[in-house]
Amino acid sequence: MTLPNNGASLLRATDVSRHYDVSRGMAAGSAIVRALDGVSFTVEKQRTLAVVGESGCGKSTLARLVTMIEQPTAGSILLAGHDLATITKAERQEVRRTVQMIFQNPFGSLNPRKKVGTIIEEPILINTDQPKAERQEAARAMMARVGLRPEHYDRYPHMFSGGQRQRIAIARALILRPQLVVADEPVSALDVSIQAQVLNLLKDLQEEFELAYIFISHDLSVVQRIADEILVMYLGRAVEQGPGRRIFAAPRHPYTQALLASTPHIDPAKRKQRIVLRGELPSPLNPPSGCAFHTRCPHAIDRCGRERPPLTAFDGRQVACFRAEELAGNAPVAASA
Ligand SMILES: Nc1ncnc2c1ncn2[C@@H]1O[C@H](COP(=O)(O)OP(=O)(O)OP(=O)(O)O)[C@@H](O)[C@H]1O
Ligand SMILES: [Mg+2]
Repeated sequence: MTLPNNGASLLRATDVSRHYDVSRGMAAGSAIVRALDGVSFTVEKQRTLAVVGESGCGKSTLARLVTMIEQPTAGSILLAGHDLATITKAERQEVRRTVQMIFQNPFGSLNPRKKVGTIIEEPILINTDQPKAERQEAARAMMARVGLRPEHYDRYPHMFSGGQRQRIAIARALILRPQLVVADEPVSALDVSIQAQVLNLLKDLQEEFELAYIFISHDLSVVQRIADEILVMYLGRAVEQGPGRRIFAAPRHPYTQALLASTPHIDPAKRKQRIVLRGELPSPLNPPSGCAFHTRCPHAIDRCGRERPPLTAFDGRQVACFRAEELAGNAPVAASA
């Protein structure tokens, strides 16, 4: 199914926040987790936005908002031109079909009592009135496309390895031909050798089915191979975002630099200046004042503890750091030779 889109971005999120009241017994509002706090991003058709950051920075929260599992506390999300806050129930159902999700854990996300064929067909059964024979044919065709064999149709998930289970989850996610797939750490639970296979499969499928991805990962080496755009988050806020090639060639936020430095697989020439993340991630219930990263930042100055740096255009991306430009002068030069 294709929703009308008027040539605009497939997804446009503007100043989106999701706050959780975790007061529990205390005065309401006394303890708020700002899981996502004023984040804006777009996803273009057939492109991949990678969302990266440490545990708890709000990646899965973002995924739950985009897939309509939860609603934002503030801000707007436009999907194929539809404002998710104001669409009708019927439109919501349609839009839901255009966004599908793949989860990290292929062991927990597949019903162990159902056969693979049934699992893959289920979205068709729920959302359409296609006859059984057609459903089966669609499932078998999709199984072949994701590298599962015909005889797998009648087997149960526990008979499969992690990589194969992720193929089942992918087949299920694609069976309704979505335009956007939100993949939340889709390869993190897999062995490195299997990770590459599943990533290649996702890339092939992107081309074949003209998919856009929101690809969530804490691992930048995984993201580098698949990302067109990158959104780097720290404690619920964007610290750097823009084209992947720019950010990988020369990360400008000290947090992005630290993430890259701690990623072992990425070209060592680009890691001349090693910045290791020091200190603990602060509590999201009580984030540091000013720039939330200042407590761990090797370049922090007084101002960083007092004022929050706004996202500012610099060097072909947006970066939220008072010192980005100044530090770029003596930042590690991207190795091109
Ligand atoms: N339902 C909820 N109620 C209260 N707090 C929540 C809820 N969901 C998420 N949080 C908090 O919001 C913050 C962001 O969580 P989220 O799961 O989005 O992070 P994440 O980046 O996906 O982390 P991970 O890499 O561990 O999956 C965390 O501090 C988390 O504890
Ligand atoms: Mg998560």
